[in-house]
Amino acid sequence: MTALTLSTSAAPGLRADAIVIGVAKGAKGPVVAPGAEAVDKAYDGRLAAVLETLGASGAEGELTKLPAPAGFKAPLVVAVGLGAAPAADGEYEAEALRRAAGVAGRALTGAKKAAFALPVQDAAAVGALGEGVLLGAYSFDTYKDNGNGKDAKARGGKAPLAEAVLLGGKPRDAAHKAAAARAVAVCEELNRARDLINTPPNDLTPAIFAGIAQDAAKEHGLKIQVLDDKALTKGGYGGILGVGSGSAATPRLVKLSYSHPDADKHLAFVGKGITYDSGGISLKPAGHNETMKCDMSGAAAVLAAVVAAARLGLEVNVTGWLALAENMPSGSAVRPGDVLRMYSGKTVEVLNTDAEGRLVLADALWAASAEKPDAIVDVATLTGAMMLALGSRTFGIMGNDDAFRTALHEAAEEVGEPAWPMPLPEHLRKGMDSATADIANMGERMGGGLVAGLFLREFVGEGITWAHLDIAGPAFNEGGPFGYTPKGGTGSAVRTLVRLAELTAAGDLG
Ligand code: BES
Ligand code: MN
Ligand code: ZN
Repeated sequence: MTALTLSTSAAPGLRADAIVIGVAKGAKGPVVAPGAEAVDKAYDGRLAAVLETLGASGAEGELTKLPAPAGFKAPLVVAVGLGAAPAADGEYEAEALRRAAGVAGRALTGAKKAAFALPVQDAAAVGALGEGVLLGAYSFDTYKDNGNGKDAKARGGKAPLAEAVLLGGKPRDAAHKAAAARAVAVCEELNRARDLINTPPNDLTPAIFAGIAQDAAKEHGLKIQVLDDKALTKGGYGGILGVGSGSAATPRLVKLSYSHPDADKHLAFVGKGITYDSGGISLKPAGHNETMKCDMSGAAAVLAAVVAAARLGLEVNVTGWLALAENMPSGSAVRPGDVLRMYSGKTVEVLNTDAEGRLVLADALWAASAEKPDAIVDVATLTGAMMLALGSRTFGIMGNDDAFRTALHEAAEEVGEPAWPMPLPEHLRKGMDSATADIANMGERMGGGLVAGLFLREFVGEGITWAHLDIAGPAFNEGGPFGYTPKGGTGSAVRTLVRLAELTAAGDLG
């Protein structure tokens, strides 16, 4: 990953491939954002006019390159749009800084070192700029080797930006240093989640995923327990086993625990980890299965969040549950009409084998509930219906406690993850009534995302606060990159979960 450093050096004397500055949309044309004063001065105070001549407006996502002024050690100035300029004396919003830094980080692919002369009003800005560049500079080229077995860089491809220097970030200021270190820890884990999501499903089976979690646990001193298919059979995890039964790659349930000696709160994170979702016997048609390697994004987010909580040393206990299975059709696959006995003891009539996420989550939610955590949050690419409702950038938040749902929504907003609260209307429950079993895994088509949430609710232990994040939309970006979001796996929900753990550790939640 890109290295992040703080420096109080002046821009002109800095040896770098580029100086990044901010340009915002003012009332009368583009305005140069704070941090770029030295650059503006070298342009005789005419930088805004120069940028306007080059067609810059300051719009979000905009990128303008210009030669650095005489006397600068760096050859290039990269101006990134920040969107609307804040009112006089106002500050740029964290998300505007994050996105602008992300756009620059992406544009500087192949560069060794770039200095960021963007507004650094406080430690929060250091964190936002750090996150933006570290996430924006991400690339996944493990498989781009032209058949010669060498990776993209070895054959002359472009490596991500090697070093980002945040000018105005104070290397001796404790708050600035902590903000940068937090950005590095969170983004390293988030980028690892992106790698897992982008890894093709033939190279990421449940067993391989569990092995990666084991390596991470070892590296960061976490407790880990992996239940393989034998242990799952012995334990009666009918949901995970049922979904995994069609695949030659057997399922796993991973429990990963981070604990702090002084913690008095316990959070459980549960992730849907379908390493490939073909739909099973209720096979998905072509056009709906090409991106289904992303169906383990929830589990990847949970792994990343638990490891990040450990790296940050948060004063809270966090248990991560990864419900890992591959959903495939075969002679041993679960059929529409089969009844599964779940870990909770309830029976489920499987009417559609493509509604598999709720089956694996049900067992993991029940297992998580047995420890009586203060709250459970599950994360899942659960329903196409949630994408229809909220689009491809916003995740839905459901749950059994309105205050907790609101807290999660606020945490998501704070870290720059678009999210929206969704209801669990009681009347939709009866659609899942089964003639044969306790419940069916499908109900009314209308409100499908909410129906899935209502199904999950049945497997949360009595009295436990629970929320469900349906990240089917934002988990995987099928369009072009934007801001600090790349094409492919995005790492959706990681930053929200980490923020929730921080707020819980600080006692700012319930
Ligand atoms: N993994 C899918 C949901 C999904 C769709 C995620 C598109 C990301 C992008 C899930 O397992 C699924 O197939 N859900 C079905 C449920 C239905 C059969 C009740 C759906 O949403 O169509
Ligand atoms: Mn499915
Ligand atoms: Zn799925």
